[in-house]
Amino acid sequence: MGIINASDLVKVYSSNSLEVQALRGVSLSVEKKEFVSIMGPSGSGKSTLLNIIGAVDAPTAGVVEVNGQILNNLTEKEQDFYRLTTIGYVFQDLNLIPTLTAFENVQLPMIALGKSKYIRRKRAEDLLTLVGLADRFSHNPDQMSGGERQRVAIAAALANDPPIILADEPTGVLDTVNALQVIGYLRDTVEELEKTVIIVTHDPSMARKTDRIYQIQDGRIDSGYVPSDDDYVSSKSYDQFLRDRVNEIKENLVTIDARVADGKMDGPAYCNERQQLLNQLQVLEAELSRLGFIGKIKDR
Ligand SMILES: Nc1ncnc2c1ncn2[C@@H]1O[C@H](COP(=O)(O)OP(=O)(O)O)[C@@H](O)[C@H]1O
Ligand SMILES: [Mg+2]
Repeated sequence: MGIINASDLVKVYSSNSLEVQALRGVSLSVEKKEFVSIMGPSGSGKSTLLNIIGAVDAPTAGVVEVNGQILNNLTEKEQDFYRLTTIGYVFQDLNLIPTLTAFENVQLPMIALGKSKYIRRKRAEDLLTLVGLADRFSHNPDQMSGGERQRVAIAAALANDPPIILADEPTGVLDTVNALQVIGYLRDTVEELEKTVIIVTHDPSMARKTDRIYQIQDGRIDSGYVPSDDDYVSSKSYDQFLRDRVNEIKENLVTIDARVADGKMDGPAYCNERQQLLNQLQVLEAELSRLGFIGKIKDR
């Protein structure tokens, strides 16, 4: 049994007469001190799975057990406590309150638990130092780079010393250098603080830094790959996953071209979005050519 055990999770969202099956029987077990990644196309159920593990959302069917607690059985009060003490959450962006400094942002989860000012300040100091931001205490989020903001978000996620960190596309808006740095700090939390970490990512070069990679597609999950495993790089599904993602990004590029032409998107937002998509495309194409160079993938 791992620290996280999900069995046969089903999640159905119904709105109006429409039903969406976000998860169709997902089982996943994660060991303590494991660093795992979940990859999959948009809409495949990645955030839904994290939200169920984080007790932000409840499954329609199936059982989740985390850190010895069956989440299905928690009262609302117990869920609140669980979210504050067992889970640290990091999102793609908007993790921080813009009007508060880094030092204050890290203290927020501790205020929610009623920790004393002395303990809060000491811990925020230690955590910001741990993520290499000892000289950024009094900076507001808009005075920091995207990578620095995500490191503050990691410090805040660690504030109440939860055993588990869930990170939903934590490097989604970062360039490769900053993304690798953020992944490195998440790795440190596993090695030095004995945390268990799950990240959702679209970027295979980030996923490869984790101990195990799961792919989710249409609400189903595979049994995971160890990134160093040759089966993984030569697997047909991984190859196909990369190609699907390339196509998805190319479609997004067409969509934003149309939106800017229709005046539904302004120039700066367009340039920003376009650059991000091009960066992602470059990473994926590099990964595909790396696989081609290895020569194990047949061109289809
Ligand atoms: N609150 C919701 N209400 C209705 N449908 C939802 C809701 N959240 C997610 N979905 C749908 O469930 C599916 C999985 O979503 P999500 O888990 O967010 O995917 P991912 O994170 O992989 O992009 C998608 O089809 C999405 O539109
Ligand atoms: Mg998502």
